Amino acid sequence: MILVSRRYKFSASHRLQSFLFSEQENREVFGKCNNPFGHGHNYEIEVSVRGEIDPGSGRVVDLARLDNLVTSTIVERYDHRYLNEELPEFKTEIPTTENLGRQIEKRLAEAWPSSFPGARPALARIRIFETERNMIEVDH
Ligand code: NI
Repeated sequence: MILVSRRYKFSASHRLQSFLFSEQENREVFGKCNNPFGHGHNYEIEVSVRGEIDPGSGRVVDLARLDNLVTSTIVERYDHRYLNEELPEFKTEIPTTENLGRQIEKRLAEAWPSSFPGARPALARIRIFETERNMIEVDH
């Protein structure tokens, strides 16, 4: 089994604020990430696919097909958006990188069979690089 990974980029802004905390608790927990008007990130996501080498093409995954799927499902959904206000999933959930990772996993998994019918290649992992120092990883 081989793992193939491909990276994509989008930019979006967010504000970290918990519905369970008071204003003061939010400031204490999230610091400047709780500033009222939000701040932006240049997100980089890495989608990993697991499969066997196809004897015909010599490849594990059709990258053009993967690009179409990730671009239409994820990049076009989140690029240049204010996540808190424009995306229904973040009306009730804090748009942390962790929650964004779960949302991306869910959306890719739902759309996967229409691009890749059958068991392989399978969605394996999603990584999101939020800054040069932060990265989260969701194993599917
Ligand atoms: Ni942030």
